[in-house]
Amino acid sequence: MIDATGMPQSGVLLGGTSEIGLAIIRRLATRRLGRVVLAGRDPAALEQRANELRSSGIDQVSTFVADVRDAGALDGLVSEAWARLDGVDLLLVATGDLGTAELSELSAGRVASIFEVNAGGPAAALLAFAEAMAAQGSGRLVVLSSVAGVRVRRANFVYGAAKAGLDAFAVGLSEALEGSGVGVTIVRPGYVRTRMTAGRSQAPFAVDPGDVANAVVRALETGEKIVWVPAILRLVFAGLRVLPRPVFRRLPG
Ligand SMILES: NC(=O)c1ccc[n+]([C@@H]2O[C@H](COP(=O)([O-])OP(=O)(O)OC[C@H]3O[C@@H](n4cnc5c(N)ncnc54)[C@H](OP(=O)(O)O)[C@@H]3O)[C@@H](O)[C@H]2O)c1
Repeated sequence: MIDATGMPQSGVLLGGTSEIGLAIIRRLATRRLGRVVLAGRDPAALEQRANELRSSGIDQVSTFVADVRDAGALDGLVSEAWARLDGVDLLLVATGDLGTAELSELSAGRVASIFEVNAGGPAAALLAFAEAMAAQGSGRLVVLSSVAGVRVRRANFVYGAAKAGLDAFAVGLSEALEGSGVGVTIVRPGYVRTRMTAGRSQAPFAVDPGDVANAVVRALETGEKIVWVPAILRLVFAGLRVLPRPVFRRLPG
């Protein structure tokens, strides 16, 4: 049950080894979150993360092996999560693959996989959990989108295009769920210092996973539906969206 301040007591992290996802889970655990399922594709890595959460004091943590590209596995995750957690207050979708934007490295299969991990799989999971939460009468879907999808750049255009699709899907789903008791929070971080960005040159307004976690907790408290991290990126991208392409192309980051 989500408490009066918007804090969930039970949750599923899809992308159960995500540094940003785990930072959000840890932050929510300092409030009411006490029952968690970590879902992902690598059983050993999931178990390691589960042990870390258990030793940090979260009462009930279990793991579920699912590749986000496998719709059957996602259906299994929904039924298993409800059985294990006695109702699910929160789905946090944190799967992501930056992939490549080098034409020589891309193939139809590689593009399809990047789209599945960043958009198709997350959308399928959001839909499956939305239906179950609507039947329950309550729930919160938090989806890690990206500013990469707000205006797509050459450097990561496949990832950015997939994130644009996921973001648009989440906006539409949020509208479709009006009045159901289920809310959607769309998180649009800029550059976050995690293993996903390790080795890449740091973009302006870079943040840490903890900053994203703080912003998500605030949004759950206030009911804010679209969260830019850091908040200044909302204004920055209002400008970047309309910047002529020859100028946009030359910007750093
Ligand atoms: N870091 C940034 O600058 C940044 C900025 C904006 C948005 N985001 C988004 O924030 C989210 C979390 O990113 P992060 O920075 O925390 O990176 P991360 O630690 O690399 O997390 C990515 C997660 O996606 C999972 N994943 C990848 N392919 C999968 C598959 N086929 N099936 C299931 N899980 C799969 C990874 O699992 P494995 O451990 O098995 O690989 C990992 O749990 C992503 O959606 C990312 O796009 C990140």
